[in-house]
Amino acid sequence: MRDRNKIVIFDTTLRDGEQSPGFSMNIEEKLIFAEQLARLGVDVIEAGFPVISEGDFESVQKISERVRGVSVAGLARANNVDIDAAARAVEKAERPRIHTFISSSDIHIEHQLKKTREEVLEMAVAAVRRAKKHVDDVEFSPMDATRSDLKYLASMVQAVIAAGATTVNIPDTVGYTIPSEFHRIVKYLFDNVPGIDDAVISVHCHNDLGLAVANSLAAVEAGARQIECTINGIGERAGNTAMEEIVMGIRTRSDILRVHTGIHTEQIMPTSKLLTRITGVSVQPNKAIVGANAFAHESGIHQDGVLKNAMTYEIMRPEDIGIKKSLLVLGKHSGRHAILDRLKSLGFELSKEEMDRFFKLYKSLADKKKQIFDEDLMALISESMYREEEKRRYRVENIQVSTGMQSPPMTMVILKDRFSDKDSLVEVARGSGGVDAGITAVKKITGSEAKLVSFNLVAITGGSDALSEVSAEVTETVNGEEFKVFGNGIHIDITIAGILCFVDALNKLEYRKGLHKMNEQVKNVAL
Ligand code: KIV
Ligand code: ZN
Repeated sequence: MRDRNKIVIFDTTLRDGEQSPGFSMNIEEKLIFAEQLARLGVDVIEAGFPVISEGDFESVQKISERVRGVSVAGLARANNVDIDAAARAVEKAERPRIHTFISSSDIHIEHQLKKTREEVLEMAVAAVRRAKKHVDDVEFSPMDATRSDLKYLASMVQAVIAAGATTVNIPDTVGYTIPSEFHRIVKYLFDNVPGIDDAVISVHCHNDLGLAVANSLAAVEAGARQIECTINGIGERAGNTAMEEIVMGIRTRSDILRVHTGIHTEQIMPTSKLLTRITGVSVQPNKAIVGANAFAHESGIHQDGVLKNAMTYEIMRPEDIGIKKSLLVLGKHSGRHAILDRLKSLGFELSKEEMDRFFKLYKSLADKKKQIFDEDLMALISESMYREEEKRRYRVENIQVSTGMQSPPMTMVILKDRFSDKDSLVEVARGSGGVDAGITAVKKITGSEAKLVSFNLVAITGGSDALSEVSAEVTETVNGEEFKVFGNGIHIDITIAGILCFVDALNKLEYRKGLHKMNEQVKNVAL
């Protein structure tokens, strides 16, 4: 029996989010993120678009094999090749889903598909039937639904449900609709589609007018019971419905909405931070729920009220989304037990391998920093979740920076190259600053021609002994092909964090180039 008041949370960070510029992730990163989504309690992970590339296929396949307790969906256009590829990719999932789509608006049908409405309707039904041969759980989306003729849209929804679709998703593909209108569209479908109760009605909103969350809530009020969303609201153009906003909206205003989700909300902040760390793109400070200022009260009147009773100016508790105040301060002398306890209360249970890496990083930080805050722990956790460490080509053995107001900055870097017989490689270089000198030294060692496109500094904790996190966009062009990656570096010293970040980017570039070469070889064999 379906719980009629439960909102199914369908996360598309790894598909709609990942396909947008600046958010691409490698397979290892997608796996780490998918595992965190499962911990967060999402119902469905849309893991990718398998037919699009070897990399997408492999990541959907790996997520299906390894991540338990969730449905894993693969996206497919309404044709046999796409659907069969999606079916193969999700085959090993505990709960496999195929999500197939075709446009329903006349603008798309005439100008993009160059077909008639009747032909498109037939393709939609055939796609659902094909997917149904592979899996029970089939989702169908009439793309650009909000700009479609309502009667035609209703006939398509009816036909795909009759063909076996278990979820029908109504996308506002171009972020055009407004809440009252979207409410009317969803209600119209409930009032006019016979058999609509046999499927879950879902919504997928884009944020071009900043209305994605509001539109999704309006659809819930009209009867929708699945919401497609992404962490931090990433996605095509202005993004998708932000998961943290929709989930906290539903929870905070359950008095009016009278629905619930299965999300473990205290995992929201760790998930948001993990995404930031993987992609190198931070959220703006005033971002609802997960922005740095979302729970910071600056005005004296507000501070006074919050101190007397938090409910005066806080509609949610910071701890509900995973911002917890430390009860005990951790440091150099803290025992393993206390640290593990703290990690557990932050919602993290690390594997033995991750734990070993975590404690190595913790020890090195605690030697330099007196007090370790939750933010520090969270940064170390995401660092220790990187299992690809042993696969990295370059490892930094030492960095020595010398700089002053009167003397030109000079940096010495010692690297270990997995492909070199030499124990370690040393270079010293000058530059306009310590980071610049360090990057020059790294380039001299590696012979890399990578370019630093942007450099972003985030001080994770307050105080002069803050742990610094640096993220940078780095590109390299090889045989006319441009590779772009985000590097990350964490260290108590800003300059060293910057240089670590550049080396991390070089490792990611090596990985990307290797993957690309492999794909080319596979293609050549196939030809
Ligand atoms: O925005 C959109 O219409 C989509 C579909 C594939 C659901 O992403
Ligand atoms: Zn979309």
